[in-house]
Amino acid sequence: MKQQAIYRDLAKYYNLIYSFKNYEAESEKIKELIAKHCKSTGTALLEAGCGTGKHAALLNKDFDVVATDINEGMLNVARSHFPSLDIRQADMSQLNFEQEFDVIISLYSSIAYVKTQVKLKKTLQGFFKHLKVGGLVIFEPWFTKETYTVGVPSVKTYESEDTKIVRACVPKIINGVSIMDLNYLIAEKNQEVQHVIDRHEMGLFEIEDTLQLMKDIGFKAKYLKNGLMKNRGLYIGVKK
Ligand SMILES: C[S@@+](CC[C@H](N)C(=O)[O-])C[C@H]1O[C@@H](n2cnc3c(N)ncnc32)[C@H](O)[C@@H]1O
Repeated sequence: MKQQAIYRDLAKYYNLIYSFKNYEAESEKIKELIAKHCKSTGTALLEAGCGTGKHAALLNKDFDVVATDINEGMLNVARSHFPSLDIRQADMSQLNFEQEFDVIISLYSSIAYVKTQVKLKKTLQGFFKHLKVGGLVIFEPWFTKETYTVGVPSVKTYESEDTKIVRACVPKIINGVSIMDLNYLIAEKNQEVQHVIDRHEMGLFEIEDTLQLMKDIGFKAKYLKNGLMKNRGLYIGVKK
């Protein structure tokens, strides 16, 4: 069994699998939230967990974006599509840049990969440290224990002309952590079918705990129920 293979050796399939996502509309919503809530006036924006760089590239039209991710597989896809973007390898739970930013974003549940409450605290403290006073953090969580659908099977298919992919999963919780063993069958033209089991371990952080953590760190914090995707919401925090 592999871990996060879709962000590593299978990263070339990420944009096909997530082609349903409307990065344009999501980036517009992020811009609206920044205009409404950010109190610092600069344009420096850090993305943590940028994946293949689609939000970052769109936001780079209005901001000076630094796009970061832990996995080189994703960063390589981002670099190949957006060669002029400032793209750097970084673990969001151990950020250590010289620069302070006006905005930090982390979207599509990337933050849930830090998995534990202890590492979530460290990650949010790092975000706080890297923001200017009045700067804004926006992050999109994974599900909570209440909204995560344990045991409900799913099968999805994705295809382009020469690539056909089936993905099946029955979500579990082990020791309080969400476990998704994504079973991929990948059929490519003139190649043997690959079967890869790709495990994703993600923290199921409760809303009240996360808001309290943000407030303790020094953010003015809010949870927006209607975020970018159904049942995930968005956290926003302004550095006081
Ligand atoms: C579901 S993808 C989202 C990617 C992108 N934000 C999007 O909307 O398409 C999750 C991303 O989080 C990244 N990731 C996981 N753990 C991370 C960490 N500790 N620091 C930075 N990135 C991380 C993965 O490599 C992957 O690119």
